[in-house]
Amino acid sequence: MSNMKPNRILVTSALPYINGVKHMGNLAGSMLPADVYSRAMRLMGHEVLYICATDEHGTPAELAAAEAGLSVSDYCDKMHNAQKAAGADFKLSYDYFGRSSSDATHRLTQDFALDLETNGFIEERTSQQVYSIADGRYLPDRYVEGTCPNCDFEAARGDQCDNCGKLLDPIDLINPYSAVSGSHDVEIRETNHLYLKQSEMSGRLRDWVESHRADWPALTTSIAMKWLDEGLRDRAITRDLTWGVPVLGADGNVREGFEGKVFYVWFDAPIAYIGATQDWAKATGGDWEAYWRTDKGANDTRYVQFMGKDNVAFHTLSFPTTILGSAQPWKLVDELKAFNWVTWYGGKFSTSQKRGVFMDQAIDIAPSDYWRWHLMANAPESSDAAFTWEDFQANINSDLANVLGNFVNRITSYCVKKFVGAVPDGGIITDAEKWIEAELDMRLPQLVKYYEAREFRKAMAETRAIWAAGNEYLTQAAPWTHYKTDVDQAAMGVRVGLNLVALFGVLAQPIIPDAAKKILDAMNIPEENRTWTFRGAGACLNALPIGLNISAPPVLFTKIETDDIEAWTERFGGEG
Ligand code: MF3
Ligand code: ZN
Repeated sequence: MSNMKPNRILVTSALPYINGVKHMGNLAGSMLPADVYSRAMRLMGHEVLYICATDEHGTPAELAAAEAGLSVSDYCDKMHNAQKAAGADFKLSYDYFGRSSSDATHRLTQDFALDLETNGFIEERTSQQVYSIADGRYLPDRYVEGTCPNCDFEAARGDQCDNCGKLLDPIDLINPYSAVSGSHDVEIRETNHLYLKQSEMSGRLRDWVESHRADWPALTTSIAMKWLDEGLRDRAITRDLTWGVPVLGADGNVREGFEGKVFYVWFDAPIAYIGATQDWAKATGGDWEAYWRTDKGANDTRYVQFMGKDNVAFHTLSFPTTILGSAQPWKLVDELKAFNWVTWYGGKFSTSQKRGVFMDQAIDIAPSDYWRWHLMANAPESSDAAFTWEDFQANINSDLANVLGNFVNRITSYCVKKFVGAVPDGGIITDAEKWIEAELDMRLPQLVKYYEAREFRKAMAETRAIWAAGNEYLTQAAPWTHYKTDVDQAAMGVRVGLNLVALFGVLAQPIIPDAAKKILDAMNIPEENRTWTFRGAGACLNALPIGLNISAPPVLFTKIETDDIEAWTERFGGEG
């Protein structure tokens, strides 16, 4: 029923920064949809490789390590493991969760830079940097703070003002001071850096983005076009830092004048998609080139990226400049799915103000299935979406507990009680069976289409509608009423009901994998029959062999009480 031929699909989600476990908004806008999509595509028989990694370089990593009192390398080890564990808690089905600090990414970054320079897309230029006399070092990006030239906010960071959002150059700050020591004894000095000449790629980038207008979400193309219309600026891709990828010359030694400098984190981070794929290949014996080299099969690979809207410019402009400018047969992204923000009651998530829930805390509060369902059903696709405890409670209690959970429980326990827990034979087809078959014939292809188009809200709404149709069927078929006068007709309702339970379990797998497994295990569905190879609704309703033993699964979803959300509001904030 899938419209796509079996295919090789590379999926990546924006690499989470190393400096802390991510909040639910980050999860909802990159890793979770990438996982749900990967799972759905695997079920449809595609060959999927889902790659992610921690993004470990840059000043945020160094500052967070200093705050934690650890060396950057120890800090990254620790936080990589924490993020990997958080991903496992949320059942993110990475094929590989790598690190941007790996040797593979170092080597690739250096090779890309050399190719780009050979082709005239990298140039060494003299630039002005803030130098701290007290600290004896340059202060890139967040290492310097001061007053924002745009809004007068007094603690703007060198790379961006948190108050007005303007992107800054550290030398623009008024009254700059060192974020390391607090010293105001700073001066502007001249030093050389490498610049990526994005401006010279504008024409090719514009043509490429234009060519995707029809298939990329409007959010993606509009962000890319806005930057192109404003005119792409050449960007420094090196920084005065020691943690990161060193800048080498063609001879393999540190490039002259680049001692104490490394590549800018945003230059190497997307390259880490490739590096992590190489690391996956090394760990598993897989063929990384089939995903990344267009001369080695990657033209037959469909590359799909997932990310929040703040990442779009880097993935539609700077990384493609790196790829195209290298003039090597590297694979470009085919589909780019971008998300708006999940807000916390309409405001920002904030660790310091105790507003919002982070992945490691969320899992203490509710099972991962609950979060997965709620976040995907409310995916911030066409606009920002506000998280509230009240909506969370309402979604879980109604969609999962009432609509899905009760259905599964009602029909399986009835079968156990009245039909010795075996799929019963008998009965004749009535309007109720015709109705549910027609419903499914309409809805199943629709659901597949939404997954293929990465329309998550619609896919969730369709799933919910299919579950609701199951309840409607039971109301129409009413086996419990028939049982008193016509056991065979009751058997028909129970049999179709059980087939619906199995189907709902199969459909639930990408979204709520734990509950899906409980359902499918209780229905004794063998692993190989859990895939998405629907042969029409009629087949779905007759899939279970007569006499198959089933059981009632353990409680699938417990309702969220108002007391719970009061306690959570107290702990994590809420409105006001
Ligand atoms: N670490 C970045 C962020 O959290 C995302 C990097 S995506 C990358 O916004 F691929 F480019 F690495
Ligand atoms: Zn400002």
